[in-house]
Amino acid sequence: MEYNTVESLETLRKEAAAEFDAIASGQDAENFRVKYLGKKGILRDLVKSLGAMPPEERKVFGAAANALRGDIEGRFSEAPWQNKGAAAPDPGFDPTLPGYPFPSGSLHPLATIRRQIVDILVSMGFSIAYGPEIESDYYNFQALNMPPLHPARDMQDTFYMSENTVLRTHTSPVQIRVMEGQKPPIRAIMPGRVYRNEEISARSYCMFHQVEGLYVDENVSFADLKGTLLAFSRRFFDENTRIKIRPSFFPFTEPSVEVDVECFLCKGKGCSICKQSGWLEILGAGMVHPNVLKSGGIDPEKYSGFAFGMGIERIALLKYGIDDIRLFYENDVRFLRQF
Ligand code: PHE
Repeated sequence: MEYNTVESLETLRKEAAAEFDAIASGQDAENFRVKYLGKKGILRDLVKSLGAMPPEERKVFGAAANALRGDIEGRFSEAPWQNKGAAAPDPGFDPTLPGYPFPSGSLHPLATIRRQIVDILVSMGFSIAYGPEIESDYYNFQALNMPPLHPARDMQDTFYMSENTVLRTHTSPVQIRVMEGQKPPIRAIMPGRVYRNEEISARSYCMFHQVEGLYVDENVSFADLKGTLLAFSRRFFDENTRIKIRPSFFPFTEPSVEVDVECFLCKGKGCSICKQSGWLEILGAGMVHPNVLKSGGIDPEKYSGFAFGMGIERIALLKYGIDDIRLFYENDVRFLRQF
């Protein structure tokens, strides 16, 4: 249709309005813009009709055409969906509907337990240190008073990467790295992964996690170790928990002990978690061996220290009453969702 009379402009206005109201997508809007407002659009073309008109008509038509163009441009640019290039409203979308519930994840049980352990010890004044999981024979064994051929190396089921490189079998090598890097007083905890070439079963896995603790200063005594572990156990398990300290052996501590806590489930009466003993073994500890202080560049005549190491999996198994360690590593959401 030719738009060259004022009446025809009214038709054009109605057509454009109907198309404008039908805009339902960004593509519709763009089509509308090109058709009416583009360089070769209908509204631009109107001026071309002017040349052929007698002056009187030209004046009236020109004014009407300009007004129409202004109206359409205005409505188009002020349309609510024009904002920041947002797409035209989808008529099927109801913004008043409630949103979808967003499924949120949760912490892995080992992460939860590690954080609880670390938070308590940090609040007691320990700072956090880390060391490598691929470790030299020197740090994993020799510096910890286990020279080559020491029988205690057998207990560790070591994964060897090469003759002198191992996957660390415990977090104790980080003790040496910490002592090398700072002077007493030293109060550090060292959380991390460790590896042992054990048969995989419900009770043991080839990889697990430990938190190591180290305290070195003048006059650190066994009483400090006892007090620290008792305070830790009471914060972690129960404020009335008792602990039991049994003699044990580690090459890097002397004397060495193992520490049991009163079973938090039966309060010492005996149950399936504590195998009717009333006690749960949670960690190994002792006074740092003079040779180990020396490895760390610390004078054992002047300083003494205590160290402890606990297994995160073991504590998590006990605390949650889980009977198979492999569940921690399978990432089965049916298991993980329970935490
Ligand atoms: N490193 C020992 C282990 O893995 C635990 C331990 C750490 C014992 C520190 C005493 C002192 O079994």
